[in-house]
Amino acid sequence: MKYNVIFMAAAVATRTSMAPTNSVTLAIPTKTMFDEGVPTDQPVVGDYTGALRPQIHFSPPTEFMNDPNGMFVDVNGTYHLYYQYNPTATVAGNQHWGHATSTDLYHWVNQKIAIFATEDSQIFSGSCVIDTNNTSGFFPGQDNGVVAIYTLNTATAQTQEIAWSVDGGYTFEKYEGNPVLALDPPSSQFRDPKVVRYDDHWVMVLAYAQEFAIGIFTSPDLKSWTHASNFSHHGLLGLQYECPNLVEMPVEGGDPMWVMAISINPGAPLGGSITEYFPGEFNGTHFTAIDAAARLTDFSKDNYAGQFFYGIPPTEEQIYIGWASNWEYSQAVPTGQLEGWRSSMTVPRRTHIANVTRVGINMMDMPYNIEAVLDAPLATNSSLGNGTVFVDYSSLNSGAIWFQVNVTGLPNNTATPSRQGTLNFTFSASSTRESVSGGFYFGGDNPFWMNRGDIYGFGNTDPFFTDKFSVGNPINANGTFTLDGIIDRSILEAFIDNGRSVGTMTFFPQGMLDTMVLRTNGLNDGVEVSVAVWGLKSAWAEEANDEGVVEGNVTMSSNNPTMDRRHAKLY
Ligand SMILES: *[C@@H]1O[C@H](CO)[C@@H](O)[C@H](O)[C@H]1NC(C)=O
Ligand SMILES: *[C@@H]1O[C@H](CO)[C@@H](O)[C@H](O)[C@H]1NC(C)=O
Ligand SMILES: *[C@@H]1O[C@H](CO)[C@@H](O)[C@H](O)[C@H]1NC(C)=O
Ligand SMILES: *[C@@H]1O[C@H](CO)[C@@H](O)[C@H](O)[C@H]1NC(C)=O
Ligand SMILES: *[C@@H]1O[C@H](CO)[C@@H](O)[C@H](O)[C@H]1NC(C)=O
Ligand SMILES: *[C@@H]1O[C@H](CO)[C@@H](O)[C@H](O)[C@H]1NC(C)=O
Ligand SMILES: *[C@@H]1O[C@H](CO)[C@@H](O)[C@H](O)[C@H]1NC(C)=O
Ligand SMILES: *[C@@H]1O[C@H](CO)[C@@H](O)[C@H](O)[C@H]1NC(C)=O
Ligand SMILES: *[C@@H]1O[C@H](CO)[C@@H](O)[C@H](O)[C@H]1NC(C)=O
Ligand SMILES: *[C@@H]1O[C@H](CO)[C@@H](O)[C@H](O)[C@H]1NC(C)=O
Ligand SMILES: *[C@@H]1O[C@H](CO)[C@@H](O)[C@H](O)[C@H]1NC(C)=O
Ligand SMILES: *[C@@H]1O[C@H](CO)[C@@H](O)[C@H](O)[C@H]1NC(C)=O
Repeated sequence: MKYNVIFMAAAVATRTSMAPTNSVTLAIPTKTMFDEGVPTDQPVVGDYTGALRPQIHFSPPTEFMNDPNGMFVDVNGTYHLYYQYNPTATVAGNQHWGHATSTDLYHWVNQKIAIFATEDSQIFSGSCVIDTNNTSGFFPGQDNGVVAIYTLNTATAQTQEIAWSVDGGYTFEKYEGNPVLALDPPSSQFRDPKVVRYDDHWVMVLAYAQEFAIGIFTSPDLKSWTHASNFSHHGLLGLQYECPNLVEMPVEGGDPMWVMAISINPGAPLGGSITEYFPGEFNGTHFTAIDAAARLTDFSKDNYAGQFFYGIPPTEEQIYIGWASNWEYSQAVPTGQLEGWRSSMTVPRRTHIANVTRVGINMMDMPYNIEAVLDAPLATNSSLGNGTVFVDYSSLNSGAIWFQVNVTGLPNNTATPSRQGTLNFTFSASSTRESVSGGFYFGGDNPFWMNRGDIYGFGNTDPFFTDKFSVGNPINANGTFTLDGIIDRSILEAFIDNGRSVGTMTFFPQGMLDTMVLRTNGLNDGVEVSVAVWGLKSAWAEEANDEGVVEGNVTMSSNNPTMDRRHAKLY
């Protein structure tokens, strides 16, 4: 967690004056533990029917969400997602840990808020681990105890605290010995602990945000922490380092490799927030990057503060989820005024390392198995060549689509005639003529581009809502190119060449997008194009009650039986 209150107030005020149609709340709320109307023992109720609400992405039931936190998967395959949550306003402030669970990473069940802000302190970002061996001593007779490690933010300091859960992560108790890590003199720029297990000890990575250092700390018991080393001044600095992650993941044709991810904000090359990562070696106390390069998770602007799930073996693809927004405009986007919520997460992404053409070592990010929400195919063509695929999906209630394009038989770059042709796609609203689009050039430097400039609902007067993004994506030596895309009402994610390059782009149309056109032209002889377009189900609609409202659940646990409140009247 990150936002600086002074910066935020200025940003909100600026946005209001520039975009008069956006009536953004100017006051930064200061709230106490028992906020009026915020339930403490049952989930916040949400309406997910809004025209801008993503249907297969996680977004909060109401109000403002930012960073994913505490992500872990338990032994039974339940994924826990906590998140920076202000349950009382559609801007940041009053930070709690919201909570949701899923077994397929697309159908999320909103749970009660897990950790609450108090009158004078907020719960900023952090992580969770499963203390299988009771190293903390919190869990007699239990091998599924959960410990949350987070930053407590007060007016004067950021310190690291822990809280423990005997019921699998649904209810937390704050440790009476908190804080477990604090600086002397106190620092207000010391945050976002991410803890992992390394052999016989725990390892925390933590940002000294404005000193551009990631501290690596070790602990036998999650309570006492020792500074082991710093990883500092690597890659893009921006103006702050935040939300570090350390994770070990598989490598195509090799042994698993460690990756250090660092989110920076403000000061990303495209403005605002972005995440960079460093593949490397970790020996339990020191991280060493393989080279001096800064690599980015995304080439566009809407993926920040991503976190990897705790509990996935390093020989399996790791899974991460990012916050699909950017601090430059996250508190101004029109979902707040129109639908009472702001920000969604990215789709879950499975990751590994590969050696890609020209660049070398690179993290590959693909959508986690989307079968759980696959509906019917809307169009397929396995021999498109130079051609067009047209899809009218106005009758698809979810408004969410997955599409895949495989191109094979591309000549190498010294062929005569030279490699050429283009592939473009456009999603448009027949009611307003708005559109989002993207495309790829098979010739030249192989740029892939995305454009949200033809959407009228938001951004045309906002200097920070950059409207076009592109990346160079060299053709593979075997002459193939692939594109996987997910569009979900107000977010588009493009995964190029098996996730070598990824773009995440939010947009806020006035009309519902309902028409897709995908077109290829000028391809070399012998190039083959195979396209499939699928409708996606609405995960949230499946969960809604008769009034169309998603109530969430209070999941019962063997260690802490609680009444099933799913059908209780909540307000
Ligand atoms: C996993 O499922 C078993 C059997 O239902 C249950 O006893 C156990 O408490 C569950 N563990 C967790 C961490 O939820
Ligand atoms: C638990 O203990 C086993 C055996 O000592 C060890 O291999 C493992 O890393 C420990 N795991 C955790 C999460 O503490
Ligand atoms: C867990 O730790 C506590 C405190 O050290 C201890 O009392 C308890 O016996 C431990 N339980 C197990 C099963 O190791
Ligand atoms: C690690 O970095 C922090 C922040 O710059 C600094 O205060 C600390 O002295 C460094 N520790 C070591 C051992 O270099
Ligand atoms: C880890 O790497 C550091 C820096 O190279 C080195 O000083 C330290 O001894 C290494 N630790 C182990 C356990 O190998
Ligand atoms: C990546 O592949 C290239 C081409 O095959 C090779 O030259 C290079 O050594 C590889 N790099 C790594 C880090 O494996
Ligand atoms: C696939 O596209 C080609 C032209 O690009 C067209 O001739 C053919 O009919 C299409 N096939 C199907 C099944 O639509
Ligand atoms: C072509 O190469 C890419 C990159 O190495 C690889 O991901 C893909 O599977 C290969 N495709 C075929 C058909 O061999
Ligand atoms: C794709 O878009 C580019 C840029 O607007 C344009 O030059 C190209 O002709 C388009 N290609 C197709 C197949 O529509
Ligand atoms: C695509 O069109 C180009 C001319 O623009 C032509 O040379 C080529 O043969 C066509 N490719 C296919 C696969 O039909
Ligand atoms: C693209 O290629 C992959 C891997 O071979 C295959 O699983 C998928 O079905 C193909 N998709 C299309 C649209 O042809
Ligand atoms: C809601 O909680 C109850 C009790 O723990 C559980 O049986 C049920 O499966 C949960 N429902 C959902 C949708 O998670």
